[in-house]
Amino acid sequence: MSKASILLAAGIALGCWNNLAAAASDEPIQPVEPAVVKEPAKVELGKKLFFDPRLSRSGAISCNSCHNLAMGGSDNLKASIGHKWQQGSINSPTVLNSSLNIAQFWDGRAKDLREQAGGPIANPMEMASTHELAIQVLNSIPGYRAEFKRVFGKDGITIEEVTGALAAFEETLVTPNSRFDQWLRGDKKALTVRELAGYELFKNSGCVACHNGVAVGGNSFQKMGLVAPYQTDNKAEGRAGVTGKDADRFNFKVPTLRNVALTYPYFHDGEAATLTQAVDVMGRLQLGRTFTPDENAQIVAFLKTLTGDQPAIQYPVLPPSEDDTPRPEPFLK
Ligand code: HEC
Ligand code: HEC
Repeated sequence: MSKASILLAAGIALGCWNNLAAAASDEPIQPVEPAVVKEPAKVELGKKLFFDPRLSRSGAISCNSCHNLAMGGSDNLKASIGHKWQQGSINSPTVLNSSLNIAQFWDGRAKDLREQAGGPIANPMEMASTHELAIQVLNSIPGYRAEFKRVFGKDGITIEEVTGALAAFEETLVTPNSRFDQWLRGDKKALTVRELAGYELFKNSGCVACHNGVAVGGNSFQKMGLVAPYQTDNKAEGRAGVTGKDADRFNFKVPTLRNVALTYPYFHDGEAATLTQAVDVMGRLQLGRTFTPDENAQIVAFLKTLTGDQPAIQYPVLPPSEDDTPRPEPFLK
């Protein structure tokens, strides 16, 4: 998007959305709906898999290691730590509300949660297993054999069943009922004057051009460094790595700002340690605007109202391994 079109989008935002008393339907952001669980047994199985480190070669790393549901579905590290303490190449995005994304990963290379879930298991930098080994492990565990059969109605566990169950669980990880959503639904006392002023700035200065919809982001790819270039040592190319088009260089999926107070540090390289820094960079590089410390603090106050009810997770008890279950190899040469 060019600077002109961003300003245009910001202008549209001003024109249509600056009346804070307007009905919620006029707002550029809509409330998160609670999850509707259609297949509870599949979700429960997916939860077990999400917490099961035996899907990794080391037997030590689960999805929850890098998408910790006690920490906003992220790891709060600049870049994740993977197999054999390897430093990951990019910041781990939250799994909360990830079902609302147009595609998965910073560059959108997986079209949905199912397609995404196969990746980390076999990624040598992350869980460093293979799909064959992960299936062999699960098939050797009687508790899993029985549970997969109950859910999928047949013998023999497949990787498609594993990714399908993981995706079904992830679809339940939505965070409704944030204070901002209460305000959107008509409770005008849910936000303070200062938080509302922050929301007004967020709209009027043009943040909503990219951060909008239910997830306050997640629904488009946009250039990082639209008005002025973003300096980073990180090698990620963004969307260009998927499309091969030079025009897509440094286009990243706009991250959701839901629960953003919990998912520090920020940006694909994790270089912004605080919300204050992230808002400052966004203002200058995406909008050509330097916020005063007070304006910045108002926007941060608004962003903190986007923390919703965190999924109530009852920690699962995993079925034990059997004598013939392949053993973990944490220090394999
Ligand atoms: C070693 C850390 C690590 C582990 C283990 C891990 N992930 Fe991730 N995950 C990441 C990182 C880093 C990314 C971003 C990668 C990218 O965009 O290139 C990511 C991206 C994702 C995304 C995309 C979110 C978005 O907004 O684009 C989802 C969903 C996800 N992981 C789910 C899972 C599941 C399910 C598992 C377990 C099977 C898992 N992850 C295991 C680090 C990890
Ligand atoms: C032109 C589109 C665009 C505009 C306008 C924009 N952003 Fe962003 N925003 C992005 C993109 C793309 C990223 C991810 C950049 C990256 O990681 O390299 C992002 C990242 C963020 C993050 C970090 C989230 C995370 O989890 O890492 C915050 C916070 C944020 N934006 C807030 C704002 C605020 C506040 C404004 C207005 C001052 C704003 N953005 C304006 C596109 C935009």
